Amino acid sequence: MLIKQRKASDESENNVTSEWAYLNRRKLMLGAGAALIGAGAALSDLQRRDAGPRELGSLDFSQNPAFRPDEVVTPEAAVTRYNNFYEFGVSKEDPFINAWRLQTSPWSVTVDGFTDKPGTYAFEDLVDMNALQERIYRLRCVEAWSMVIPWIGVPLASIIKKLAPTSDAKYVVFETLADPAQMPGIRWPVIDWPYQEGLRMDEAMNDLAFIAVGLFGKEIPNQNGAPMRLVTPWKYGFKSIKSIVRITFSDTQPTTSWMKTGPSEYGFFSNVNPEVSHPRWSQARERRIGEFGRRDTLKFNGYGEEVADLYAGMDLRKYF
Ligand code: MTE
Repeated sequence: MLIKQRKASDESENNVTSEWAYLNRRKLMLGAGAALIGAGAALSDLQRRDAGPRELGSLDFSQNPAFRPDEVVTPEAAVTRYNNFYEFGVSKEDPFINAWRLQTSPWSVTVDGFTDKPGTYAFEDLVDMNALQERIYRLRCVEAWSMVIPWIGVPLASIIKKLAPTSDAKYVVFETLADPAQMPGIRWPVIDWPYQEGLRMDEAMNDLAFIAVGLFGKEIPNQNGAPMRLVTPWKYGFKSIKSIVRITFSDTQPTTSWMKTGPSEYGFFSNVNPEVSHPRWSQARERRIGEFGRRDTLKFNGYGEEVADLYAGMDLRKYF
């Protein structure tokens, strides 16, 4: 079923922009604003701060009935304004305020490592925009909150098949853009930039692994990882790397950004698992954004039927 979604109405887009402008000005005034002006910040800098989010185009897509859980979808305002995207700052509203600076078109992705087709690919050559589907997935963050999100995109496997990895490719590694000119958070060494994530090849080829290019019927906003981000709903949210510019096929398991940041806290697999606590907090329960109270966390975030086989025989306490 192909559904033409309504065009993002001007009115709601205006609302987004004006709330963005309000938050941005408030931050500017409360924070570094006075100092900036005192230091003689150029008017053009302030004007650029006011440019604001681009208008998001509507997308054509089919709904995938296999991924329509009987659960309340998280309000769009929470999905797009409560984010983790450290390249734009570490507080939850920073990406909404700052990520409009990212130029997402044209966009290209470097493909290297163990592949028969290395090179630089345009976004349009990787993602078949005529084959978009909507999947409603739960996203469980390692910080013990969760959301239910209507993503639009393509299976990761459809992209990997185009890239022809060789039999030596055991892992696929992803990298986010790291451009200080567009990403104000890069100046803080909270992560060993560029942000890097990876999957074992069989995980990457599993049908659940998804590359999202849209949300709520429209193009994906920058703060959610435009123009293309990974979604692996059975893993903690930090595996879902945003704004991908490099895909490397590797014969060895990568040491990802979060593994480098806290080796005892973040493992390579990062499967959602209520039985294995984070060293500093339990993972047994979670707060669904928009709900009161907490709910039990499900093993593999409730996707065990699809992915448990990938880990048969593995000690998930050791391989966390
Ligand atoms: N990707 C990049 N490049 N940088 C980040 O800081 N944060 C991760 C992940 N992908 C992050 C990232 C974390 S911790 C989470 S929970 C999810 O993005 C959040 O995705 P969302 O903001 O779209 O909900």
